[in-house]
Amino acid sequence: MREAPAELRERLERQNQLHVLYGWEKLSGVQRAGLVRQLTEVPWEKVLGLAVSGAKPAPSLAWQELEPAPLTPAAATADEQAAGKAALRQGVIAALVVAGGQGTRLGTDQPKGAFPIGPLSRASLFQIHAEKIAALSRQYGRPLPWLIMTSPATDAATREFFERHSYFGLARDQVRFFLQGTMPVVCARTRRLLLEAPGQLLLSPNGHGGTLSALAEHGLLDELESRGIEHIFYFQVDNPLVRVCDPGFVGRHVLSRAEVSSKVVLKDQPQEKVGIFARHQGRCVLIEYSDLPAELAQEREANGRLRYAAGNPAIHIFRRDFLQRVLSLGELPLHVAHKVAAHFDPDTGQWVTPQTPNAFKFEQFIFDILPHARQWLLMETPRADEFAPLKNAEGPDSPPTVQQAMVALHRRWLLQAGVPVQDWPVEISPLFALSAEEVMQRIPPGFRLTGPTYLREDTK
Ligand code: UTP
Repeated sequence: MREAPAELRERLERQNQLHVLYGWEKLSGVQRAGLVRQLTEVPWEKVLGLAVSGAKPAPSLAWQELEPAPLTPAAATADEQAAGKAALRQGVIAALVVAGGQGTRLGTDQPKGAFPIGPLSRASLFQIHAEKIAALSRQYGRPLPWLIMTSPATDAATREFFERHSYFGLARDQVRFFLQGTMPVVCARTRRLLLEAPGQLLLSPNGHGGTLSALAEHGLLDELESRGIEHIFYFQVDNPLVRVCDPGFVGRHVLSRAEVSSKVVLKDQPQEKVGIFARHQGRCVLIEYSDLPAELAQEREANGRLRYAAGNPAIHIFRRDFLQRVLSLGELPLHVAHKVAAHFDPDTGQWVTPQTPNAFKFEQFIFDILPHARQWLLMETPRADEFAPLKNAEGPDSPPTVQQAMVALHRRWLLQAGVPVQDWPVEISPLFALSAEEVMQRIPPGFRLTGPTYLREDTK
């Protein structure tokens, strides 16, 4: 191919994007063909349209029809517990973690899941989640299937991490990695497509909402169906406190016949940066904190509680057939995010690493499927028990705050089991216990802390 195809060149010219042909004459035949393929497959004109229209589209909600979402209580009943345990024993549920994000705010060059978060153990997020999967598999007498969504940014390093750690003792066929899709990245200033290198568009993962299309593309929904799996427990890799497949939550979801069930943490400050669940025309909607009008965000009930307080910790259970139905409705919308993106600059011929947001990335959000659910439920959970996301290198939601939350939770579990904790830091491996109740069952009588303590599988 000596020249770029004329029709493609014209389209690029029309959109002011001829710079993507930078260095064409020096590209090999394979590289040229690769670029043409990218420009044919990737929806670059669509994202340019979104970027040109500027800021993100306002959610199409009639605000006067917004109501607080009804919440169900945090404590599960004995029937719910029993139904959840039965579902786990019958093998009708799989766990799914999304681990394709680039973790730009945390700023490590490894996948976020490899971050050594254990306050005493230095266990990685992946290890902590893997130990939960292993503990549940042991308790319920069958391997709990675990799907791990990666992206081109995290896939190779994630697989290698699992290999290096022998899959943390899990059976290999219990763990299934699958790759999410990508989207082109656009310069926020010039509205030009960014490049990874000469002859290559810069692509970034298409958001956690990419889970849906990735599951379908890899044939995983059909495969889960043929294996008798009816529910998918969804969580994010950056929250070490998540109660994976919490039996009370699973049971409530199953008994209520919800298509989707979500955990909720209560917001107590209007400006907290967490999306909120609400009800809109009978459906469940999730509104990003930046989209909720300030007067609604500040509204309070007579008892002083925020009216729109149902914060989203990104813990859901989806019925598999619900996901199949949503897929048949078409693609999820794309949201525009203003983020940092390192890239190759054709004007200078240099690789540049900006320190402040310079680019528009295009992402689908998993919670955009919620309004499609006819039956849905929200279950409150105490934030300190279940939500401490690792987002930033420092400040809120950073390694020290996440570790403090882990230690505080595990100290509370020990206190509930009657162990005086004094001031010692503690950490409990999921292989020792997954909850306060399990600590009570396992802790040896008269157990005392004499220093910083990591309770592991073999702790006697
Ligand atoms: P965030 O939206 O917090 O993004 O992802 P992030 O990649 O972790 O961090 P920043 O924004 O670049 O700093 C929440 C969860 O969704 C996953 C992440 O891995 C994390 O578990 N995610 C996000 C994906 O799996 N794919 C994506 O494209 C985006």
